[in-house]
Amino acid sequence: MLEGKTAMRIGIIGGGLMGREAASAFGRWFVLNDMPVRAELVAVCDLQDSLLDWFKGVPTVRLLTKDHKELLASPAVDVVYVAVPHNLHESLYLDVLRAGKDLLAEKPFGIDLAAARSIRDAAAKSGRFVRCSSEFPFMPGTQRVLQAVQAAKLGRLLEIRCGFHHSSDLDPTKPINWKRQNKFCGEIGVMGDLGMHTVHVPLRLGWKPRRVYAQLQKIYTQRPDGKGGMAACDTWDNAMLHTDVLVDGHEVPMRLEQKRLAPGEMNTWYIEVLGTEGGVKFSTKEPKTLWTFARGKEQVWQRTDLGHQMAFPTITGGIFETGFPDCFLQMWAAYAAERAGTLGNRFGCATPDEAVASHEIFAAALQSHAEKRAVELA
Ligand SMILES: NC(=O)c1ccc[n+]([C@@H]2O[C@H](COP(=O)([O-])OP(=O)(O)OC[C@H]3O[C@@H](n4cnc5c(N)ncnc54)[C@H](O)[C@@H]3O)[C@@H](O)[C@H]2O)c1
Repeated sequence: MLEGKTAMRIGIIGGGLMGREAASAFGRWFVLNDMPVRAELVAVCDLQDSLLDWFKGVPTVRLLTKDHKELLASPAVDVVYVAVPHNLHESLYLDVLRAGKDLLAEKPFGIDLAAARSIRDAAAKSGRFVRCSSEFPFMPGTQRVLQAVQAAKLGRLLEIRCGFHHSSDLDPTKPINWKRQNKFCGEIGVMGDLGMHTVHVPLRLGWKPRRVYAQLQKIYTQRPDGKGGMAACDTWDNAMLHTDVLVDGHEVPMRLEQKRLAPGEMNTWYIEVLGTEGGVKFSTKEPKTLWTFARGKEQVWQRTDLGHQMAFPTITGGIFETGFPDCFLQMWAAYAAERAGTLGNRFGCATPDEAVASHEIFAAALQSHAEKRAVELA
């Protein structure tokens, strides 16, 4: 029964791609079993009439506005989800905190390292509950990778790889948008888009790079502007970060790959951890497949079919496959549970410190690429 549960009343600032994805996650909240918190979308702010019209179809929404300060002034809002271009993160996140609201911030948590630090510091000072969006840890396959690493049966680690690959930018006729322009997306380019997703699990496992050697690529330097002309496209398209991490006193190579130009890849997030005794691999390309390696008399990679084994149980049949909307909903369940003090030993959303750590890696990557050398991290 939803009525008896504590309500988490949410306002969204930025009702574009992710704002509407969040609305659909709240609309499906009843799929969660035994959740002490009920998510309710009550207010939405966007600058576009067509998007505000779309949110009229969400029955719980009582306030639609183009002025985020009006949303923040509403006593009916407890938590604000902000999903806007990166150049607006710092000012809007700080406004949310000043208004005394809790925040689920979208990545990359500020346009650059300085912005991320300023948001992190303001969050700590405010005492509000602040987390950053990163949903792939909540796929059942990723949860199994985490368990395999934490069980410490992989032996001495040989190599870690985590990546996120897209390919739609391979089409040179794809029109420009804010994600392809430094002034909106940030100088870190594709790392701001995809990087939080690749570093979150490693950072949570304590694998913070000690040094970074980065290869950054800009392939298409202009794109159609949608008005018959061409516009400059100045963001990094692909970023390969070769890093060293310390695991059990040994340096281990860890490669973090962020690519907008990865032929054939639709939205492929993956992680692979290889050790002398065992290994584990998961990719959203095969969302129900977990690969585990065991070294015995013979060396065997074993494939396990996964189903809907979620950290926050759902009414969905255990054999059914999972996808992006499922892990995004699970991330919100983790946010709500941690905010309510009921997360237990489950994986929590990315913290402000982890978001700052991700920016430290990206800043070092920019420096590494500019100077063509490995850069040490503190
Ligand atoms: N977690 C994920 O998997 C994921 C995926 C895509 C994007 N993102 C992140 O989400 C954020 C938004 O990306 P998107 O793809 O939804 O972008 P989008 O362009 O689809 O939506 C952004 C929206 O913000 C609105 N907006 C701009 N300025 C505003 C203001 N001052 N007040 C209110 N609304 C304003 C725009 O009108 C637009 O509708 C970015 O930080 C991006 O990195 C996260």
